[in-house]
Amino acid sequence: MKIVVLGGGLSPERDVSKKSASLIANALLRKGHEVAVVDLYDGTDSDCDFRKGTDDLFEYAIPETEPDLDQIVADHGGREEWVGPGVIDICKSADVVFVGLHGSHGENGQVQALLDAYNIKYTGCNYLGCALAMDKDISKILVAGSGYKTAKWIKGNAEDLTVEGIEKEIGIPCVVKPIGCGSSCGVSVVKTKDELVKAIDYAAAYKQMVLVEQFITGREITIGILDGKALPIIEIVPHEGFYDYKNKYQAGLTDHICPAKINEADTKKAKELAEKFFEILRMDSYGRIDMIYDEEKSEFWFIEANNLPGMTNTSLVPDAAAAEGIRYDDLVERIALSARSGN
Ligand SMILES: Nc1ncnc2c1ncn2[C@@H]1O[C@H](COP(=O)(O)OP(=O)(O)O)[C@@H](O)[C@H]1O
Ligand SMILES: [Mg+2]
Repeated sequence: MKIVVLGGGLSPERDVSKKSASLIANALLRKGHEVAVVDLYDGTDSDCDFRKGTDDLFEYAIPETEPDLDQIVADHGGREEWVGPGVIDICKSADVVFVGLHGSHGENGQVQALLDAYNIKYTGCNYLGCALAMDKDISKILVAGSGYKTAKWIKGNAEDLTVEGIEKEIGIPCVVKPIGCGSSCGVSVVKTKDELVKAIDYAAAYKQMVLVEQFITGREITIGILDGKALPIIEIVPHEGFYDYKNKYQAGLTDHICPAKINEADTKKAKELAEKFFEILRMDSYGRIDMIYDEEKSEFWFIEANNLPGMTNTSLVPDAAAAEGIRYDDLVERIALSARSGN
């Protein structure tokens, strides 16, 4: 097959996505496909011809800090249009587009709707599931409304959120986050009142509404879903602090335990819940659900859903798939083969 792997884009997770895209592309090359990697924002001005064979694999290293999007726009003459030149044409020329994006347009359904409009086949979740899952407020409304546990929360524009209001309604410790980012961009765990204002400013820098929720104590787990079915549970144990950007993407700072050491009954419960959340949020194909496990009460708290989870060879979904005997290259090809058009 001729496959375009879409990565990059104008998203805080741009760099993470470029890494995923290059590794996805290499897996597809090893499987004998013809592959081009295209940056959604940069477009095809730079070299993005189709490659074949394994002599010339793609490479990308994630910088330690989050990307400066304003600078990237400035470097492109201030262009605010987020679909770069030539992107639609090269996507149309392929059999399948593998959506290797993370965050913003790639994850909120806009790219999927755009590809639908051109009748282009793409991988992953449909546009509606993307939109619902990407909005942490809407996904919590749907999950809580269906009778499941999620931390109590409020949302608002940064300027409308006050320390007093948060203390009264949510309490401290709490977690402050942008309403629709990923990769822990803009997320802070707040333990003291003094940290709160800084945390709100940090989240607000992502130019979205801000969500403040109760901090849930427990073991952090995440469950990959493939074709609607839960993969083995992964427990996430950062060596220090919480699962922030650095702990997510710098090697060796976080342990992933898969399958998580959770008793059989709770494992079953967690997997069923993850599948349920996936369904409630109208997701399809593959994704990942983040939860906190209160072991004492055998309870699971919904944190958020990811419709374009990391797909590097050491990312969580590939890790979970491996625990079930699905090798990285096979997983990537399986997702590519299950691509469909939204029409
Ligand atoms: N309510 C919460 N209680 C405890 N920890 C949380 C809570 N919400 C988020 N976290 C921590 O912050 C991390 C990032 O939050 P999350 O909502 O998953 O954002 P992202 O979409 O950036 O992954 C989580 O992996 C978890 O470690
Ligand atoms: Mg998360």
